[in-house]
Amino acid sequence: MKTIRLKNNQINYPIFIGSGLYADIGKLCKQYIDKDRVFIISDSVVSTLYKPEIIRAFKTAKVKCIFISISVNEKKKNINTVINLSNRLFSYNVDRQDTVIAFGGGIIGDIVGLTASIVLRGIKYIQIPTTLLSQVDSSVGGKTGVNNIYGKNLIGSFYQPQAVIIDTDVLNTLPKRELLSGYAEIIKYGIIKDTIFFEWLQKNGKKIIEGDTAARIHAIHKSCMNKSKIVEEDEKEHGIRALLNLGHTFGHAIESLNGFKKSVVHGEAVAIGIILAVRLSCIEGYTNETTFNKIITHFKEIGLPTQLPKKIAKLTAKNFVSEMVKDKKTINKNITLILVKDIGNAFIKKGISQSKLIKLHKEITT
Ligand code: GLY
Repeated sequence: MKTIRLKNNQINYPIFIGSGLYADIGKLCKQYIDKDRVFIISDSVVSTLYKPEIIRAFKTAKVKCIFISISVNEKKKNINTVINLSNRLFSYNVDRQDTVIAFGGGIIGDIVGLTASIVLRGIKYIQIPTTLLSQVDSSVGGKTGVNNIYGKNLIGSFYQPQAVIIDTDVLNTLPKRELLSGYAEIIKYGIIKDTIFFEWLQKNGKKIIEGDTAARIHAIHKSCMNKSKIVEEDEKEHGIRALLNLGHTFGHAIESLNGFKKSVVHGEAVAIGIILAVRLSCIEGYTNETTFNKIITHFKEIGLPTQLPKKIAKLTAKNFVSEMVKDKKTINKNITLILVKDIGNAFIKKGISQSKLIKLHKEITT
């Protein structure tokens, strides 16, 4: 098992990464739990696959599990779900010594984290992410949030977990499309700040998708290390944490314009978003075609989408850009984007006007 410690003056928690961790998950979690009971919040798919094993492991550690299964998708990722979950916890007389565990993908992590941050003004929580995407990104760094009618993740908090426990064995039951979706967030770290990791992915990326445990552990470890370093420096995204949003402003607009339908999942939207951001970086002269080609070639080799879905490509530039402006980084209606100078060297570009993006839209998207 590999351990990373995310640590600065305010934060200090471990990220455990390994294979076969669920057998002893009760013992591993016990040190972060103040009581002899724990709430485990999961979705129906994960519950069906892992509930008996997890309950057994907590029983061995003499901790009682209250397993709560909720139905989730991007549409149900809203404040009503948080209120309903809070009420379920109150029905068990939740108190400030209780701990909740987010056992699922990114949506479960975001909902449980937000719920933990507001129930009784904050109770402890642990992240046990079960998708590649949540293992390499959303479970680390304490971002919690839900969607509302104005956009994605607009209601939320920064609230750090007590621990993150990543078992790579769960990836063996994950559909290929979900693995690729997580891969988009892995490659993001290489493009933002880690050339050597990008080169390693060029050689070994396929192994991650094909099920090589050592390659998966290496990629997850590298991703979580890169993310931890950024969060340690800028927990609340006043500066460099925004780099982690490479491809996301375009990506969120794609997801939203697609009505959050399963035909484009989050990682696919981010992958297309990264390509659009690098294309814009080329048009604006920050980087060159060689960098763009290296990135798009790798995306194609691995099987990530690189082009807007037809339905969204047909929309007007104005439609597309007015969706992008809903992003949390927008100030005075000017858009902030993460652009690249080179592989391993991304930067934050503030103050991009909507009219400029509308003008460039055709060039970026074709
Ligand atoms: N997913 C981006 C971040 O955690 O900041």
